[in-house]
Amino acid sequence: MHLPNYKEARSFDKKDYQVRTFQLDPVYQNKFQGKTCYLKTYGCQMNEHDSENIKAILEEMGFTFIERYQDADLILLNTCSIRENAHNKAFGMLGRIKHLKESRPSILVGMCGCMAQEEVVTNKILKDYPWMNFVIGTHNFYDLPRVLCQSLDTNSLQVEVYSREQDFVEDMPVDRVSHYKAYVNIIYGCDKFCTYCIVPYTRGRQRSRKKEDILKEVVDLKKEGYLEVTLLGQNVNAYGKDLYDDYSMAELLEDVAKTGIPRIRFMTSHPWDFSDKMIEVIAKYPNIMPSIHLPVQSGSNAILKKMGRRYTREEYLTLFHKMKEQIPHCVISTDIIVGFPGETEEDFKDTLSLVQECRYDNAFSFIYSKRVGTPAEKLKDDVTKKEKEKRLYQLNDELNQFFLENNQKLVGKVLMVLAEGKSPKKKDQYFGYSETNKLVNFKSNQEVTGKIVPVLIEDAKTWSLDGTLCE
Ligand code: SAH
Ligand code: SF4
Ligand code: F3S
Repeated sequence: MHLPNYKEARSFDKKDYQVRTFQLDPVYQNKFQGKTCYLKTYGCQMNEHDSENIKAILEEMGFTFIERYQDADLILLNTCSIRENAHNKAFGMLGRIKHLKESRPSILVGMCGCMAQEEVVTNKILKDYPWMNFVIGTHNFYDLPRVLCQSLDTNSLQVEVYSREQDFVEDMPVDRVSHYKAYVNIIYGCDKFCTYCIVPYTRGRQRSRKKEDILKEVVDLKKEGYLEVTLLGQNVNAYGKDLYDDYSMAELLEDVAKTGIPRIRFMTSHPWDFSDKMIEVIAKYPNIMPSIHLPVQSGSNAILKKMGRRYTREEYLTLFHKMKEQIPHCVISTDIIVGFPGETEEDFKDTLSLVQECRYDNAFSFIYSKRVGTPAEKLKDDVTKKEKEKRLYQLNDELNQFFLENNQKLVGKVLMVLAEGKSPKKKDQYFGYSETNKLVNFKSNQEVTGKIVPVLIEDAKTWSLDGTLCE
């Protein structure tokens, strides 16, 4: 039994990370032949990609995957801690599973992902969910086969959660959701410790994967016919800082671009580490997509300071405009939090005015959610829930107007779209994403799935574009 400990999770001792390869112990190979698994993924791309690894490991153990949890032999929840509603969703699901387990005690139930790393969550599970089979953390999910079997052998709840990161495990098997687009981890964890955020506690200290391993993965993906890679990290711009003196995100982007993979995306970028060299490289290589997610969080300097974001509104805007000027057709999206403790009407107005200046193409907006163990938990929060909701609606109204306005400018233009498949609703209609990451629904008489094709844009909506394939 290993339980998460926040004090340890916060610690900053420099570790030497070992790299090891994954090898499924033959005793687990096909041990569960004929058994089914329901895997539910909450949260961000990081979790989605972890689930692609978890799925492949379980497949090697013999599991097949099904869509209905009611019919599964193993139910595994890959969870997210970022806001309270993510917690509520997972605990709501556990409530439903409890009933199922009462009528079918043989089902195995496990939790992995970020919630597993939280002291409050594991304590609650030990106290109120003793019927569960296992909890495994983000730093050791590759150990799932052993933990799962141990819970079966001992018929008891196993909690195996390490507070700090373990070895790097390369060569983990992966069963990717898409055959055209792939996620590639480049940096794990986060050292920014924004005061509201739980990620540094659930994902550990910042550590970069070796450039050779990343480039090999991209080259292999290209050989397999993948058309797009998304380089993943909580703050990709910090890439290399913990590993190299003279190799950073700019150099990595350039090397990935030189592999010739048709499309490269990366997320997420913290404005603080966004270098001029990165802007130059993005502008230079047509296969680096001109679509950048640049979370601002707030337009008020007072709130940015309390959030520990390390930049001012003015510095953010300077960076924003530099990108727009230097990267051809650059599209920028963002994340915004409203109702941070102590946010005044004036602070909120500063966020609105920043949005009016940036006229974002896309944005995710959230009401602040207090996370146990973060520094912001201790701040006095005197903004009422009603007021926070009002601000969110007002912000969204403003944002939506710009999404539509930006999309309308694309009507009559031809965009290159990576077609992902047929529209679930309409016959002869496909969907895919443009270089600037716009969702495009389009008519086509040809089968275009898995191809990058030109589409004439004929209509604009707030969150998508409609068009027809150019013959
Ligand atoms: N690493 C990314 C963010 C990952 S979390 C970055 O720094 O940009 C995604 C978004 O969730 C954040 O950008 C933030 O807007 C939001 N978020 C994080 N913690 C939150 C909290 N406690 N309450 C509300 N929103 C939060
Ligand atoms: Fe969280 Fe800040 Fe790290 Fe993003 S940069 S993951 S918001 S601590
Ligand atoms: Fe959620 Fe963890 Fe991602 S908290 S947003 S799943 S890193």
